[in-house]
Amino acid sequence: MKENSEASRRGFLKKLATTTAAVAAGSSLIAAGKSNQSFYYLKKEYKPFGPNDQVNIALIGAGGMGTQDAIVALQVPGVKMVAVCDLYDGRLAEAKKRWGNDIFTTKVYKEILNRKDIDAVIIATPDHWHQQISVDAMHAGKHVYCEKPMVHSVAEGPAVIKAQKETGKVFQVGSQGVSSLGNEKAHELLKSGAIGELNYAEGFWARRAPIEVWQYPIPDDASAQTVDWETYVSNVQKRPYDSKRFFRWRNYTDYGTGMAGDLFVHLFSSLHFITESMGPNKIYASGGLRYWNDGREVPDVLLGTFDYGKTAAHPAFNLSLRCNFVDGTSGTTYLKLVGSEGSMDVTWDSVVLKRNKTIASDDPFYLEKLRKAGQTNSARKHILPPEEITFDAEKGYLGGPYDHMNNWITAIRNNGKVTEDAVFGYRAAAPALLCNDSYYKNSPMFWDPENMKMVKKA
Ligand SMILES: NC(=O)c1ccc[n+]([C@@H]2O[C@H](COP(=O)([O-])OP(=O)(O)OC[C@H]3O[C@@H](n4cnc5c(N)ncnc54)[C@H](O)[C@@H]3O)[C@@H](O)[C@H]2O)c1
Repeated sequence: MKENSEASRRGFLKKLATTTAAVAAGSSLIAAGKSNQSFYYLKKEYKPFGPNDQVNIALIGAGGMGTQDAIVALQVPGVKMVAVCDLYDGRLAEAKKRWGNDIFTTKVYKEILNRKDIDAVIIATPDHWHQQISVDAMHAGKHVYCEKPMVHSVAEGPAVIKAQKETGKVFQVGSQGVSSLGNEKAHELLKSGAIGELNYAEGFWARRAPIEVWQYPIPDDASAQTVDWETYVSNVQKRPYDSKRFFRWRNYTDYGTGMAGDLFVHLFSSLHFITESMGPNKIYASGGLRYWNDGREVPDVLLGTFDYGKTAAHPAFNLSLRCNFVDGTSGTTYLKLVGSEGSMDVTWDSVVLKRNKTIASDDPFYLEKLRKAGQTNSARKHILPPEEITFDAEKGYLGGPYDHMNNWITAIRNNGKVTEDAVFGYRAAAPALLCNDSYYKNSPMFWDPENMKMVKKA
């Protein structure tokens, strides 16, 4: 983003009438040519696929998210489910029930990778398996959709980037928001100067219900006989079978990546897409375990602050993220971007743009200061409510998850590229994972986002 100026502001207003009209083609408001609309529809069009474009997929990790990912992938025309891998018998049985007895099922992911009839795999295992399965899959000639965070630790990232470069396979990380209409519009608005000069961003999660805070139900038949525990812990510390560590893996650092890896990473992905940023250079986190003393090793309240340096793409700005699993008020996840002339609340389906009409104050304290400085108050203005414009997805919009999957399948078909590739995925995962390092070490972490390397401060 260039330095903001009257020209860029005027540019935004002018563009609002043209580019928005393009995105929202058919909107009666635009068609009516009104200049003071406060609501616009966002619209998406999809390209048809050819008869030879079938893509055969397999799912590795058929739990909650993997199943959802596969359901969405199968909504993309020309996609077929061929095989499923999971370490728990119950999930394999469910997969056959859902996708038919003909699908191949196994507990050994390499048996999936060895099959010639599979073009692409969705990897939705717990985080500690993402890197190894992704690298093995690309080397076996498969395109990969890997759930977020791309890796379990910062040290694991370069191997995935290397495998993608070496194999040329389409590799996409699963932060779906990046492909959504809401993120797309926010990117366009920021670039056109809609909020002036960006200086701050924030996001939060407020949760309270046990199911939301990772106390998942454990199946009645869960045991060392129905779960391949040996494989599960084969790349981390060996321990005796433990159902909680398998079915509630997010609570344990060997397998999960805490609130930051699980949730912050989504906002890093969206923020980096919207701002064209490579990431922060300073990361600091604090928090604590306030309530959920159920044996978890990760905090249930976490705050993160991040410094983004000035780059060719954006000015320097600060980011604040927070997550509270004991929040009695509950609330929504959102990403807010604040600039010198306004702000944007961004979701996958909408952007609410607020622009300040005046910076004049009617606070008596400041008015007295003005009077003392010899400045008259004759031109006193009232604060007006900010000008508010809502951009909302049209009814029937298939959503960020569909667009994300569709982008991956389209890139596979066309030998094309995706936005959230291994480099992008690593740049989103690293600051999230460094939050955990900061929290446990009680120290800020320094990161070179361009070169994707840790920086040691004397
Ligand atoms: N993009 C999103 O919005 C989103 C939402 C939720 C979860 N996720 C991500 O999806 C992944 C899975 O999360 P979940 O909530 O579905 O967990 P889950 O526990 O419901 O499912 C994980 C599945 O992986 C299986 N598994 C474990 N190790 C395996 C291995 N080595 N090989 C094959 N299968 C293995 C387990 O048996 C389980 O069925 C995580 O990385 C998580 O961060 C992303």
